[in-house]
Amino acid sequence: MSILPARIRIVEVSPRDGLQNESMPVPTAVKVELIDRLAACGLPVIEATSFVSPRRIPQLADGAAVLAGIHRRSGVRYPVLVPNLQGYAAARAAGADEIAVFTAASEAFNRRNINASIDESLERFVPVLEHARAEGVRVRGYVSTVLGCPYQGEVPLADVVRVAARLHALGCAEISLGDTIGVGTPLRARAMLRAVASEVPLAALAVHFHDTYGQALANILACLEEGVGVVDSAVAGTGGCPYARGATGNVASEDVVYMLHGMGIATGIDLPGLIAVGQWLSVQLGRATASRVARAMT
Ligand code: HMG
Ligand code: MG
Repeated sequence: MSILPARIRIVEVSPRDGLQNESMPVPTAVKVELIDRLAACGLPVIEATSFVSPRRIPQLADGAAVLAGIHRRSGVRYPVLVPNLQGYAAARAAGADEIAVFTAASEAFNRRNINASIDESLERFVPVLEHARAEGVRVRGYVSTVLGCPYQGEVPLADVVRVAARLHALGCAEISLGDTIGVGTPLRARAMLRAVASEVPLAALAVHFHDTYGQALANILACLEEGVGVVDSAVAGTGGCPYARGATGNVASEDVVYMLHGMGIATGIDLPGLIAVGQWLSVQLGRATASRVARAMT
């Protein structure tokens, strides 16, 4: 068994990935309270919202109001998702100082999600990255469908590596590898990470697992053993992408934190506090939490 890292950074994506697919409107005040409560639990990075077409993702049309409402804590980062220069300008005008751009390893998924080919999307990012560099804005890049696509099926590893390497070369400080529909299994997840790490430094990689098939924690462990140091998750296991047919939520942050702390890996996160936030959010959304740990501990 390889040596596990002593500390892992969790990137909490519930305010963005967690809520973007909710059919009932979630009030801006609830989103603001969610972000502030997550920050109070010690989450170091909270993806706060997105600046995409409001016709495509109506739930997050209030991104500017959310950023205006939160109480920024020192030491906490609040990135936002941006698809193009228009989104970048809107995010900056709303006070965002860190962003994430997103594309996919599958042409079919990318076309449905952002109405662009992979290469077109990468071209769109060039001016975004130029502005970001000039303005000192940190950029994360997402690669979706790294372990399978709902439309294309299998996704060749070489495509994942190519897109991740391109995002890194464009200037993304971190690349998050997304199993958008949660179909991956641990040995494939490990092989995928290893292949990407042959082109992009491991220290610049993050993993982003949806838990559709109940494989997310096992996949995360496999990637931790490869040395990845950043893990995305969402409190109460919220989440999903409207353009990823059949995909369910992100892996629950409570479950990830429980697993990490149980292995002696530090996160800086207060687990009972996080569980309380997840329970509160579940009440707001009117459904049961998807976190097994929260169910067991409350
Ligand atoms: P388009 O569909 O090609 O259409 O947009 P367009 O470029 O002709 O623009 C259409 C309209 O959107 C125009 O308005 C633009 O002004 C406007 P109209 O003139 O028709 O009134 N528009 C914008 N409005 C606000 N903010 C913007 C913006 N850009 C254009 N930034 C676009 C392309 C990418 C904008 C669109 O397809 C889109 O917004 N898609 C949403 C994609 C999305 O948010 N998906 C979910 C997030 S990705 C994800 O969840 C995966 C991830 O979690 C990792 C994983 O799990 O794998 C990250
Ligand atoms: Mg996602």
